[in-house]
Amino acid sequence: MPKTVKITALDDKGRGLGEGLSYPFAYPGDEIAGEIANKRKKTGRLVSLISGSPDRQTPPCPHFGRCGGCPWQGLKYEAQLRLKQARVESLFGECRSIIPSPDLYYYRNRMDYAFGPDHSLGLKAEGNRIINIEKCLLMSEASNTVMAALRHFVQSANLDIYYQRTGLMRHAVIREGKNIDNLIVNILTSDQGAFPLAELWRELKEKTAGVSWGINLSLADRSYGELRQTLGRDHYREVLGGLHYQVPVQSFFQTNIKAAENILTTVKSLIAADGAETLLDLYSGTGSIGLYLSRSVKKVIGIEEDKTAVALSLRNAELNSIGNFSAVAGRAEDVLPGFREKADLVVVDPPRPGLHKKVLQKLGELKAPQIIYVSCNPLTQKNDVEVLKTFGYKIEVCQPLDLFPHTPHIENVISLRL
Ligand SMILES: C[S@@+](CC[C@H](N)C(=O)[O-])C[C@H]1O[C@@H](n2cnc3c(N)ncnc32)[C@H](O)[C@@H]1O
Repeated sequence: MPKTVKITALDDKGRGLGEGLSYPFAYPGDEIAGEIANKRKKTGRLVSLISGSPDRQTPPCPHFGRCGGCPWQGLKYEAQLRLKQARVESLFGECRSIIPSPDLYYYRNRMDYAFGPDHSLGLKAEGNRIINIEKCLLMSEASNTVMAALRHFVQSANLDIYYQRTGLMRHAVIREGKNIDNLIVNILTSDQGAFPLAELWRELKEKTAGVSWGINLSLADRSYGELRQTLGRDHYREVLGGLHYQVPVQSFFQTNIKAAENILTTVKSLIAADGAETLLDLYSGTGSIGLYLSRSVKKVIGIEEDKTAVALSLRNAELNSIGNFSAVAGRAEDVLPGFREKADLVVVDPPRPGLHKKVLQKLGELKAPQIIYVSCNPLTQKNDVEVLKTFGYKIEVCQPLDLFPHTPHIENVISLRL
């Protein structure tokens, strides 16, 4: 039997909190009729809205409320920014005003879709159900057209869907340039059969620059694997911060490219460089931050786990006639302890779990005068910053940015000085 619940706050995942339960798609200021969804996970289900917060708006996406992709689409953008600002300030104290995303829709250049048992293709919702997405408002028209073609291809070829460890089809990843019009597709399957990539390529040749097929042997529900075959290009092309990039089909690249420009300009405005510095770019990926800063310092040394991304960062350096960028392939926690040079400036941009304790330890020993910490997870950033403070670092600037409108995700840049 649903009961009346006042939503008074947000939980760590950006869900509405009321009477000890987390409600997806509910926001502070709402009064809802809610019921328990999962007692152990302390989650509730919004059954109906009794009175909505004044911050609410009508979500434009027809899948809203079922698809878990953008749970904040029911909130006005000003309110989203206000909540993100408050979240970051609750962790770090006073911060600069959050920099909004230049685009509120169609801003993503990558979407990872999963195949569902009924040949649906879309995003995961509650209970691991796949919501068949007809049109995603975060992706371009071209990408939505390719998604529909992919679904149709898999249905017509009657390919088995991977479910409970049997079947073939697992994920489809669509990636596209925003400043250069080009799109690539990566199909991830199990090893229980061959994927007819040549047939797909025939279908999609006019719409894509390349198609790849990889095998995900892991039980984990992830959308990358061992690449088996590529037809056409194995990367897409993009321009970011005035530099040209080739992004490999399975390597990380900023997903909201226009907002990523704001990260670059923010970092550049925060560094105190006179051109004589050695910059250590940890978790350097395809090199977007290090390459952008390379003209302001003497040299840049990147460290990145993904070998393909390292190779591409070097190729990207060449592509842009940048001669002072080098990058080492390996895990930061393995490579950094053996780093013998002096670093004048360190930029870290780790994945969501944050910095490994060996990395933190070595940063404490390196004693670079300035560390810029770029993070997509302010919670782990907070823990790491607390450790860095024990080495004498102080927060100089905290600058949140919005890269992910309609989701609770926050990007945050912190400048630390000794
Ligand atoms: C948030 S991305 C930042 C990438 C880069 N700064 C950019 O903007 O392109 C995090 C990067 O860390 C890499 N990575 C993940 N774990 C790592 C580790 N233990 N050591 C080094 N790199 C790692 C990922 O492959 C990814 O490229």
